Amino acid sequence: MAVRFPSAWLDALRERADIVQIVSSYVPLKKNGHRYVGLCPFHNEKTPSFNVDSQKQLYHCFGCKASGSVIQFIMEIERLDFPEAVAHLAELLHMPLPEMQNDPDYERRRTLKERIYLANQAAARLYHQMLWEPQGEAILSYLQRRGLSDTVIRRFGIGAATGASITKPLLDQGFTMEELTSAGLLYQREGRTGDMFRSRAIFPIIDAYGNVLGFGGRAMGEAQPKYLNTSDTPAFNKRYTVFAANLLRKAKGLTRVILVEGYMDVVALAQFGVEGVAATLGTALTPEQARMLSRYAPEVWLAYDGDSAGQHAILRGLSVLEAENIPCRVLDLPGGLDPDEYIRQQGVDAFYALRPISGVTYRLRREKEGFDLSNEEGRTAYAKAGASILKTVREPVELENYVKQLSFETGFSREVLLEQIGVTPRQQKLPQAKREALRNQINEVNSTDMTALTLLAALATGRLPAGAVSADEFLNPQLHAIAEALLRGQNMASIMESQPDAQGRALIATITEIQTPADDAGLRQMAQECLHRMRREQLDAELEEITRSLPNVPESERAAVHQQLMRVMQQRKDLD
Ligand code: UTP
Ligand code: MN
Repeated sequence: MAVRFPSAWLDALRERADIVQIVSSYVPLKKNGHRYVGLCPFHNEKTPSFNVDSQKQLYHCFGCKASGSVIQFIMEIERLDFPEAVAHLAELLHMPLPEMQNDPDYERRRTLKERIYLANQAAARLYHQMLWEPQGEAILSYLQRRGLSDTVIRRFGIGAATGASITKPLLDQGFTMEELTSAGLLYQREGRTGDMFRSRAIFPIIDAYGNVLGFGGRAMGEAQPKYLNTSDTPAFNKRYTVFAANLLRKAKGLTRVILVEGYMDVVALAQFGVEGVAATLGTALTPEQARMLSRYAPEVWLAYDGDSAGQHAILRGLSVLEAENIPCRVLDLPGGLDPDEYIRQQGVDAFYALRPISGVTYRLRREKEGFDLSNEEGRTAYAKAGASILKTVREPVELENYVKQLSFETGFSREVLLEQIGVTPRQQKLPQAKREALRNQINEVNSTDMTALTLLAALATGRLPAGAVSADEFLNPQLHAIAEALLRGQNMASIMESQPDAQGRALIATITEIQTPADDAGLRQMAQECLHRMRREQLDAELEEITRSLPNVPESERAAVHQQLMRVMQQRKDLD
């Protein structure tokens, strides 16, 4: 779903956001003219090369070449996509989101969504009330048998769907059958309606803003399915949320988020005082959930069940987190237990004593179980599998540790294993390698480009007389597009946001770094000189091209080409 915000509204948002103020809440900045300077949050550095330009409302790092507008800063640092970052800033600044134009359905869907939140909240209250009433007795005693304290039941707002329907009380509160069905609280099948949840313990699923999105219902005894979850509704999409997101947001200063499989795991850990725990909702971890979790702590620890389904889910989860560049580790629970069982059997100290292991250690451990290391064949196969896992290790000292261990386990020498891994010259970390490539690319901006960039900088002031420069002066398609955008009146921050990649963003940053004369006459003169130089260089290139082609021109065309050559030479002379 592509969300398009009106550009005037985005301009207003950027203006109100004030990049200096927003960035300052993440990075201490020092004033230096109209620039502010600090340590770059996107790469490791000891001397500040991160610049924020208060006039142009852009940031730029001379070290790693990261650059962008305030919206892009929020995207990078909070790991959000564009619409999410916009919504985040809008909320921060108390700016109402614009009505989505071109979308007549938007208002209706937004209202329905809000009605669903309200209906869910009312339902959650009813379920929670019913738990303490005689009708909820069986469910309450089930929860108590599982060790839940009244305090933790209240904290999570756990409830009871009993034999009594919640339809009538909700209708009495003014909700319609349609709203309750859309919320997934009622089902309608073959003309019959009924409560979705019956005879289940109810876990409300609440987002970071306190909205009740849906419910998970635990069956009593062996009834199937064991957990019934609200299916996706206009207000709830399992891909984008986790259970206990509301508590994650409240927990301050988390050093890690622990991700578990089940509702009961989150609740049990919370009861023992373990904060910062969340669960996916009966689905595999999605990239969206991974990014959301990474906002709350610098690391994510996977603590799925110790059974084989949990182990597979950990391997998949690691791939998802790694693909998002989110630092992650694994709490490998012994004995096939889940975190709920583990903490109740072994106690909270034993839980804290579990040390998180790296993804690599975890993968090696799982591989190792698949081989019989008592014979050569098994050891060889494990060595190969292990070497292939170790190909991903970037830090030489870490690699050394893993190789030593693998050597110990398989009997192969360190040298042979390194060869199997295939690491002779050290590869560089990918993001860093990418940045370096980008840096070279940008350093290669040659003098021709520099002239064109200077002209764009002059254009960007908005102080050149109309018609002084046309976009067609720029032969390079990328620069042509930037010129067109500037001539249309787009500002640099918005042009920055429309760049498709880091190279484009770095190019915009380069343009904004170029100094332009403060007085209009000086500016006009600078633009004139640039135009002149660009035209001269274009004609020079044309002349060179014609001269080179001359020997191969067929007799019949020679006169025409010669004429063209004379014409270009004349044009070139006129410019001197
Ligand atoms: P588990 O089967 O591991 O259950 O499912 P559990 O969390 O240990 O539950 P208890 O302790 O037996 O009560 C883990 C998670 O998978 C989802 C739920 O989110 C559950 O918490 N699940 C499981 C479902 O959505 N539906 C099911 O039928 C089963
Ligand atoms: Mn369990």
